[in-house]
Amino acid sequence: MKRQILFVDDEPKVLRGLQRILRDQTDVWDMTFASSASEATEQLAQNDYDVALLDVKMPGKNGLELLAGIKADARTRDMEVVMLTGLRDQSLKSQALDLGAADLLNKPVLKEDLVARLNNALRMKSYHEKLQAQNVVLEQQVILSQKMELVGVLAAGMAHDLNNILTLIVGYSEITAFLLPDDSKAREKLKQITRAGDRAGMIVQQILRFGKQTEAPRGRCTLGPVIDECLELLRPALPEGVDIEWEGPETDRLVQADATEMYQVLMNLCINAGHAMKHGGVLKISLIETELDADSIPPDHEEMCPGSFLRLEVSDTGDGMDPATAEHIFEPLFTTRGSQGGTGLGLSVVQRIVKNYGGLVTVESSRGEGTSFFVYLPLP
Ligand SMILES: Nc1ncnc2c1ncn2[C@@H]1O[C@H](COP(=O)(O)OP(=O)(O)OP(=O)(O)O)[C@@H](O)[C@H]1O
Ligand SMILES: [Mg+2]
Repeated sequence: MKRQILFVDDEPKVLRGLQRILRDQTDVWDMTFASSASEATEQLAQNDYDVALLDVKMPGKNGLELLAGIKADARTRDMEVVMLTGLRDQSLKSQALDLGAADLLNKPVLKEDLVARLNNALRMKSYHEKLQAQNVVLEQQVILSQKMELVGVLAAGMAHDLNNILTLIVGYSEITAFLLPDDSKAREKLKQITRAGDRAGMIVQQILRFGKQTEAPRGRCTLGPVIDECLELLRPALPEGVDIEWEGPETDRLVQADATEMYQVLMNLCINAGHAMKHGGVLKISLIETELDADSIPPDHEEMCPGSFLRLEVSDTGDGMDPATAEHIFEPLFTTRGSQGGTGLGLSVVQRIVKNYGGLVTVESSRGEGTSFFVYLPLP
């Protein structure tokens, strides 16, 4: 896009001269010429300029007053301003720079000098824009890390109490199973409760370790059995009318990942899929080996290398998401299910775990059609 420059001078001869000597710049600059401060103010209200060149001495509002107005207005403050003067007053330069001008040129001005100074002002404007964009990103990162820190502290406190309650649940389900006859169907169900409770206990231990900032021991696992166990426990919790499509793993390769953490990943993805399919649908899980090349790796996954990966797919035929929602789903505390008890932590946990193993989570979704999450884990 062409850069926008505004030229302001009350002398028609000077404006015509500027137009003439800058004729060959029309390919790179969009130039507007105003013959008074009031005309310039009108132009400034209508357009966004990158740079303005202002004559100092003008009838009515002079160039310095116009400069002060530009720098006082939040909309025009970031524009670079170069002053132009025929006056030989030494104090003008410091006055203009104090008011926020980038430069002051004396008339008559040579074409090469003028073009070089305006280019310099345009460069400064670009740096300014880049810095502002970086600032926004940094601010967002600080907010995110503060949120995560808070979540860590809260989670550690709650995990401690949860652990006590889980011990009771597991203890009582074991005692009750023991009191029931050997062939009792309820005994089988109680075993599931014990298993789920044990898994939950392991997750709670992880949260406690996370709170203490100690590294979890890194395990290895095959994902097939983790998927089997997860689906078995999850089936009763899925809405009525949801069919599970899982034909078993296409590979039994080991991945460098802790089984409990992979269980967390699956649980979160499957529970989300269940929420999206309140009126039934198909939950499809698959596990295959695949290759990822450098182009498929996003820039914020610098620790990831191209190569062989396990790809776990969790797809649903539920509500789906619009692109604006999908953009935020991995942010901690982002939820569209706040009124139904959603905390917005599930997918941020999934992403943290997978990224920690040098992997990647991607999502494809379409409103009204469904959602597919793909988890890539590096194969050793
Ligand atoms: N399978 C899916 N289909 C449609 N939307 C989804 C799906 N999975 C996640 N989302 C969207 O992503 C948001 C964030 O998901 P996340 O799991 O992080 O939090 P949550 O499910 O809202 O709450 P929590 O998991 O903490 O109970 C959801 O609120 C939802 O808008
Ligand atoms: Mg969730």
